[in-house]
Amino acid sequence: MEGGRVEMDVIVDLQYGDCGKGKIAHFLCTTRKYTHVLRYNGGCNAGHTIFHKGKKFVTHHIPAGVFAGIPSVIGPGCVVDPEKFLEEITGLEEGGISAKTNVFVAKNVHVITAAHKAEDGKETKVGTTGQGNGPAYRDKFARTGVRAEHVLELQPFLVDLYDMWYSGKEVRVLAEGAQGFGLDIDWGDYPYVTSSHCTVGGAILNGIPHSAVKEVWGVAKMYETYVGKKDFQPKDEIFNKIGDVGEEFGATTGRRRQTNWMDMQLLEKAIRMNGVTHVVFNKVDVLRIAGAWAIIDEGKVVPFKGEEAMKSFITERLVKIGISAANIFFSENKEGI
Ligand code: IMP
Ligand code: MG
Repeated sequence: MEGGRVEMDVIVDLQYGDCGKGKIAHFLCTTRKYTHVLRYNGGCNAGHTIFHKGKKFVTHHIPAGVFAGIPSVIGPGCVVDPEKFLEEITGLEEGGISAKTNVFVAKNVHVITAAHKAEDGKETKVGTTGQGNGPAYRDKFARTGVRAEHVLELQPFLVDLYDMWYSGKEVRVLAEGAQGFGLDIDWGDYPYVTSSHCTVGGAILNGIPHSAVKEVWGVAKMYETYVGKKDFQPKDEIFNKIGDVGEEFGATTGRRRQTNWMDMQLLEKAIRMNGVTHVVFNKVDVLRIAGAWAIIDEGKVVPFKGEEAMKSFITERLVKIGISAANIFFSENKEGI
């Protein structure tokens, strides 16, 4: 096999998920040239909201590349619910997106079974999405799980990722993660975490090595949200307002997301540990409409007079840890950056 070049850009979420990775994936797919999009972790616990040609789509398993007509692959860092996956394919096809020919599932991906869903549906401690994610990963690591290659309905979508990445052609992959750093199985606030690797480390578990990674796009929001059982939102009324303005409800479960100011230390840690090269802060307009600007630094709330003061504070801090100011983007709640 002759070696064509393999390169990969990675999108990671720097907070607790729901920061707008789908939007950045869609932006990168439509402004750059990728041969493949790879979903590298998580299952149908994720909900990606994408506005494509003025139409709203919510995907769970399937990466955003499919909207740009780019072959999209679900890698073995993920778990797949075959029933939900097929429903998603049908939904996309009905919305005019060619999903049947452009979506692939790695044959070594583990599947979520009816028993996994029933078990996760009863979970109360963590406040999971109840989609069977945790039990499926548990069985994968207990070596009692089922891989996609043994599931009849998934046969038309199966690929061997070694063949896909190393066919000898040039391969340029956009790797799109699910959830976020604060939910990462190792670096999140255990046990209030998901069951997969939400970092660049998770991306390179899908058959493409670290040396192929070029850009790492870290996605954050101008404030934080978290869904689950731990106490996250402070009492002040402003957080309800931010949640209302930002329409902070889960795309998968419809649960109200808890809201807080952005935590500077979590952000810096996630940027460093992921080797982030570009940072996007989404939903600046939500704080503008809510009329409040603040962050948490070293455990203390730091208020700002206005938008520019908050943006300069953040930019200065990120430049200090090695991010070029030209690679920091403040973005609004709409298509594009
Ligand atoms: P699980 O991933 O369904 O096991 O849920 C574990 C924790 O991660 C819970 O707090 C969920 O609310 C959270 N979670 C899982 N997927 C997402 C997501 O896509 N966005 C935000 N939170 C998520
Ligand atoms: Mg989401």
